[in-house]
Amino acid sequence: MITKPKGCYDIYGKEGKYFQKINEVVDMLALVYHYQYIRTPIFESSELFHRGMGETSDVVKKEMYDFKDKGDRNLTLRPEGTAGVVRAYIENKMYGDAVQPVKFYYNGTMYRYERPQLGRDRELTQFGLEILGTNDPISDAEIISFGYQVYQILGLKNVKVQLNSLGDKESRLKYREELIHYLKPHIGQFCEDCQERLKENPLRILDCKVDKDNPILKQVPKTLDYLNEESKKHFESVKEYLDLLSIPYEVDPTIVRGLDYYSHTVFEFTCEIDGKSLAIGGGGRYNGLVELLGGPSTPCIGFASGVDRVALAMQQEGISLEDDRIDAFLLYVNDEEKKYAVYLAQELRLAGFRVETEYLGRSLKAQFKQADRFRASFLIILNSEELDNNEVKVKNNHTKEEEMVSINMLIYYLDEQLSLLQEECGCDCCHDKGEENE
Ligand code: HAM
Repeated sequence: MITKPKGCYDIYGKEGKYFQKINEVVDMLALVYHYQYIRTPIFESSELFHRGMGETSDVVKKEMYDFKDKGDRNLTLRPEGTAGVVRAYIENKMYGDAVQPVKFYYNGTMYRYERPQLGRDRELTQFGLEILGTNDPISDAEIISFGYQVYQILGLKNVKVQLNSLGDKESRLKYREELIHYLKPHIGQFCEDCQERLKENPLRILDCKVDKDNPILKQVPKTLDYLNEESKKHFESVKEYLDLLSIPYEVDPTIVRGLDYYSHTVFEFTCEIDGKSLAIGGGGRYNGLVELLGGPSTPCIGFASGVDRVALAMQQEGISLEDDRIDAFLLYVNDEEKKYAVYLAQELRLAGFRVETEYLGRSLKAQFKQADRFRASFLIILNSEELDNNEVKVKNNHTKEEEMVSINMLIYYLDEQLSLLQEECGCDCCHDKGEENE
């Protein structure tokens, strides 16, 4: 048997429905927050990620799916969405567009060679947002608010927003010196990668997966203590706008994020999964990335969320999804009735009803059973003689009452009956009352 690669999953059935629900909410919010959809390639030139995310980050050092194509080009399966969006922004000269800032959202699979465990996959799905072309703190607050609202609409109750600031270039340089000064005497107690990082990029020591529990890191200097006036002002302003929007947050000075491109605001959304706190989303400001990748200096902010982890969190919090009953199942026996079923199914579907019919030529008894499996509210039983009279038999699968209905009136009839059903039972209990057809 050929099996799926380690750390990859087939998403379908119940889990597929969680994915669909998350995508639906993201699409709906993207529309009202006015973000345009962007799709960038799943593989890009390796240089984009190596340069963009930082050679010393764990993702670039250990987790990249790098490969050569048949033309000997160095390519990489994207580990995240931001670098690709920035490449598209520069390549398509969007910085020159009349409409500024440019606001994008995306949804797609990313690839990281990680050690698979609960909530840590090699193929993961992210939805993400990027605002390119503004440094106004209202954009930081908007991105955080968008993420927070997605989780609220999905019904997640235990999401925490953790906020920090790394400051601008000047503040980060000052912090870097302080960090080196603090870590240097203890660096022998850290992993080999971290020993190298001390000189190249000491900030990455703070999110190293190997050394994350090293007690030396508990007393480490905090970025917030090294912000210059401008950076402090930006951070205070982001917090004020979050208060204005009633977004609860905690300032957490340990949040530094695992990628190199961040400056100023950084944040994470966390949830309890299997008793452990897991990031379901994260992001921040990246004012230097466009320039680093060859574009004009452009301030940006963004965020991405792991759809797989959000789906896990929803299941852990016991969030059930809407009833997936169908409205009607069309039953038939002979060829003439079958043709009519095919025709009527299309008419009803285009009128907005959820409709199924028989595909395997089974007995009427088996079709009744199939209708029960779909928890059909109504059964439409097609019979040649009754069709000649322009009528069909409709059985209410809850009350078990049957009625002859004129085909011309069928849409109105179903509409009315479904509204009545909803009023009487409410959605959740309807399907529990549906008894098996014999
Ligand atoms: P990130 O923190 O690397 O940020 O990933 C964002 C989210 O993707 C995480 O919070 C987590 O929910 C999910 N995630 C990451 N790795 C895995 C994995 N191996 N398995 C399952 N889920 C995972 C970024 O990717 C940035 N591009 C975010 C950003 C956008 N910053 C600015 N704009």
